[in-house]
Amino acid sequence: MQLGIQNRVAIITGGVQGIGLQVAHELAQEGVVLVLADINQEAGTEALADLSKVTRTEFLQTDLTDPASVGNMVKSAHDSFKRIDFFVNCAAILDDKTFMESSHDDWRRMLDVCLLGPMHCLHAILPVMKAQQFGRIVCFSSDSARVGQARLSYYAAAKAGVTALIKSIAQEVGPDGITANIVSPGATNTPLRRKREEALRAQMGEEKYERRVKTVQKMYPLRRIGEPTDIAPMVAFLLSEHASWMTGQVISINGGFTMV
Ligand SMILES: NC(=O)c1ccc[n+]([C@@H]2O[C@H](COP(=O)([O-])OP(=O)(O)OC[C@H]3O[C@@H](n4cnc5c(N)ncnc54)[C@H](O)[C@@H]3O)[C@@H](O)[C@H]2O)c1
Repeated sequence: MQLGIQNRVAIITGGVQGIGLQVAHELAQEGVVLVLADINQEAGTEALADLSKVTRTEFLQTDLTDPASVGNMVKSAHDSFKRIDFFVNCAAILDDKTFMESSHDDWRRMLDVCLLGPMHCLHAILPVMKAQQFGRIVCFSSDSARVGQARLSYYAAAKAGVTALIKSIAQEVGPDGITANIVSPGATNTPLRRKREEALRAQMGEEKYERRVKTVQKMYPLRRIGEPTDIAPMVAFLLSEHASWMTGQVISINGGFTMV
């Protein structure tokens, strides 16, 4: 399918590893100009070297929890490329605690990155998209926000907030030619998930952990967790003209884990 997004300019937060990096590769193949915004300088330098071989790419070290850092990133991207067509928010953190084990500081940090982060970005980017009378926004939520998940309560709450935010913004900016949709993955094999799984393996011991892996697989009708390559093509589609009449939607990509 021809996506027709060549030469569009995309800001991708969290675009230096995991799902965000795969989205960057997918868009690079389509000839999209990339701005990778991430707090991780080392992974950013590596991703920049790889992606620059395929398309024009910038890496801007950015802390999404800091509105000044986000403002500088958006200004710098706009100064360089004069447009911002696409905004894809992948950056996130994850904790593994019951609600009662967690603290105020845990909640604040989670909300700062996962909910206020995309809010800072959208507040800075939307004026540019409105001036262009064109924009495509894709933010990542999680199936844990749709059905709840033990040990992920405040992550799930932050992600449910993202869904409510994006649906509301979609109503406000539709008349300006801007669409905003949500991608909601199930468990996907990325550094975010691998870090949590390694901690669980250490806690549980090998035998118990292997039983857990099998139990998790059985919860997925398609009998496996996802890979970033299962997710990224949907983002490219949502950014393309083929999705120009889709807005405010939540698309789950999850091997059938939830069917709501
Ligand atoms: N992997 C999964 O199982 C899974 C499941 C459901 C939803 N998701 C969602 O998909 C998206 C991508 O997840 P992933 O698994 O690829 O994650 P990942 O951890 O592999 O990548 C997240 C990126 O966010 C960046 N980041 C963290 N804090 C930041 C900050 N303050 N400022 C800027 N960048 C920051 C990290 O440096 C990292 O590069 C996330 O929104 C995540 O919540 C993932």
